[in-house]
Amino acid sequence: MTLEAIQYLRGRLHILNQLLLPHETCYEEIDTVQQGWQAIRDMKVRGAPAIAIVGCLSLVTELQQSNEEDKDAVVTFILDSLKYLVSARPTAVNIAKAAAELSALVRRETQKAESTAATIKESVITHIVSMLEKDIADNKNIGDCGARHILSRINKEKATILTHCNTGSLATAGYGTALGVIRSLHAMGRLEHVFCTETRPYNQGARLTAFELVYEKIPATLIADSMASIAMKEKGISAVVVGADRVVLNGDTANKVGTYQLAVSAKYHNIPFYVAAPCTSCDLSLENGEQIVIEERPHQELTDINGIRIAAPGIHVWNPAFDVTPHELITGGIITELGVFSPSELQDAVIRG
Ligand code: MRU
Repeated sequence: MTLEAIQYLRGRLHILNQLLLPHETCYEEIDTVQQGWQAIRDMKVRGAPAIAIVGCLSLVTELQQSNEEDKDAVVTFILDSLKYLVSARPTAVNIAKAAAELSALVRRETQKAESTAATIKESVITHIVSMLEKDIADNKNIGDCGARHILSRINKEKATILTHCNTGSLATAGYGTALGVIRSLHAMGRLEHVFCTETRPYNQGARLTAFELVYEKIPATLIADSMASIAMKEKGISAVVVGADRVVLNGDTANKVGTYQLAVSAKYHNIPFYVAAPCTSCDLSLENGEQIVIEERPHQELTDINGIRIAAPGIHVWNPAFDVTPHELITGGIITELGVFSPSELQDAVIRG
């Protein structure tokens, strides 16, 4: 059985509470927009694609329970809910793009003379439910394109990959993005080994990626973030592959904090650095990475581990959740479901679709 962060069946939504992993596997039901927002804010569900899908599915569950028959009331509820869901976490663009698409869909549907509250609800629900299948299909393409690209550029039978944060089944509807590339290499019999970083301060690598890799029986080793450079020097890393929360017009990419230093180090060690992300993570409305809003998380996520304070009392804390990797450090390419592109090729590729 594959790991599922999101279970949606016959109108009911359950999410795997990722705060309890790897020790407890506990699914929680989400049946309102407010609960969806809270689960995203608390990081019970996280990862750019999963945030968008769970947020939108929380709207589906609430719409399905509602008996509201007034068209204007339904439209207002949908548009307000989408705006609210986008506010849960600001950096990942997927939920903002999904909300914009859905809002446009609602406006188009509303203008149809024959539309009713029921037909508008139905078109929104159908669109959102299709996001699940599309995300998995996109991830499989990302995995296969990325694996083939990496293999075409190494002069070894098998690749060794270093990755950061969690970009797997837990961060998406399934298969994963950067972890999807690793999964595809493994399925092809062409993966030597994976090094996954712990990913301080919130340990998505140690808690979640390590869990997924062990679960899938993929040969892997956990390292602390501070060991990445020595791993690049000594462990025969063929490529660094990470995910993205937002890739902007010039290819600058926001991803989990710590990604930037990996890219700097990869450049120094002459190791190709790849970003793996679906087009839903590409934001062509921003010109460069300086325009990306970087979420700051509560200090406790840095000072405490599992509720136990490890940092000296009284110390100041800065806890940005993401950093921006400048496009010139993305030397391997940006792996999307449409193919692998250099940062300068990305805009045309995404527009062409
Ligand atoms: O704070 P998180 O855990 O939501 O951060 C997740 C990441 O940075 C991932 O790399 C990114 O969202 C891509 S997930 C396919």
